[in-house]
Amino acid sequence: MLLRSVRLEDFRNVVAAAFEPGPRLTVLLGANGQGKTNLLEAVYLLTTLRPLRATRLAELIRFGADRAAAQATVDGPGGARVIGVTLDAAGRQATLDGQPVDRLDTYLDGLAAVCFSPDDLLLVKGGPDGRRRLLDRAAWNRWPAVLGEAREYLRALRARNAALRGDPGPVEESFRAPLARAGARMIRRRRDVAVELAPHLAAAFAGISGGGPRAELSYRPSGGFEADGDEATLEARFAEALAQRLPRDLERGYTSCGPHLDDLLLAVDGRPARVYASQGQQRALVLSLRIAEVENLRAALGRPPLLLLDDVSSELDPAKNAFLLDYVARLPGQAILTATDRRLIEPAAGPGTRFLAVVSGAVGALDS
Ligand SMILES: Nc1ncnc2c1ncn2[C@@H]1O[C@H](COP(=O)(O)OP(=O)(O)OP(=O)(O)O)[C@@H](O)[C@H]1O
Ligand SMILES: [Mg+2]
Repeated sequence: MLLRSVRLEDFRNVVAAAFEPGPRLTVLLGANGQGKTNLLEAVYLLTTLRPLRATRLAELIRFGADRAAAQATVDGPGGARVIGVTLDAAGRQATLDGQPVDRLDTYLDGLAAVCFSPDDLLLVKGGPDGRRRLLDRAAWNRWPAVLGEAREYLRALRARNAALRGDPGPVEESFRAPLARAGARMIRRRRDVAVELAPHLAAAFAGISGGGPRAELSYRPSGGFEADGDEATLEARFAEALAQRLPRDLERGYTSCGPHLDDLLLAVDGRPARVYASQGQQRALVLSLRIAEVENLRAALGRPPLLLLDDVSSELDPAKNAFLLDYVARLPGQAILTATDRRLIEPAAGPGTRFLAVVSGAVGALDS
């Protein structure tokens, strides 16, 4: 996939803007609060259909406007396409060559993006939701059908939770089977992507820290069972865990195990990183996680995904910043970086690097 041009309307602080990223590196430069991250957020939404940092899609609509729109021309395996997303009170609508699409996997086919952001530090220190998001995003970049499967799971979860709060007993049972089926599919996807990511994580971490400590990642479903085996086996295990917890779930009125409560264990030298890893190791781990996703997609798709790097240089020490910029400069793909200070990203810039200035939500040529 190659992003040729991007156009935004009433998206965050952008009234209207258009820009053409270069085939390799594009740097969005601007002072704080000008809209650099907003532009990356639009590109991320276009290429993954997921918000980058917003918890509600409505946050993306410019204050005072009713509707936000983002559009991009991309060259993909099937030729040039125009992808678009509009957001309004009714929700999100994706379009392909101007036509609304309901099958999101059709839209996402051939699109993949990985974003490095300063918030990534929370992946190690923060709660499990960030780590679940990491796994799920890695999974649907890999298999676009995952987006629909995750929605189906949430629907089944809501239905069972409602049943738990309503009539007890046999009523819950009829909601357990669909939840177990949808849950098993998610567990298998997360397991599969975690297995794929693990060797890439170890390699990236070794590269950053120059050998020595080992980084590991492992996924364990929240029901206390193992994640190996086929989908039918996982479904049976998950259904059994749900059955065992039924009395407790009825008492509390919600489902107390399942993919919505999973975690991803990150470890350095066999010990939980959250508790034992040093600050520098945690940063190296976070960087390695993102690089692992890029490398995994690159191996699976035969080309790197679109890389988005939001102001990462300001968060990293000089050695890690140099490592990352060197990695990006060598990657045979497209990357969009944001920075407040041109000097920080200069090491990654080559002759083809495109510099663009972002001022008050407008994108223009850099005058220098
Ligand atoms: N829905 C919205 N409507 C209008 N403005 C918004 C909306 N959401 C955020 N903003 C504004 O967008 C501005 C720019 O945000 P953005 O995070 O993109 O800046 P930035 O260039 O990345 O800055 P920094 O270098 O500090 O990260 C902020 O001033 C914020 O108030
Ligand atoms: Mg920003």
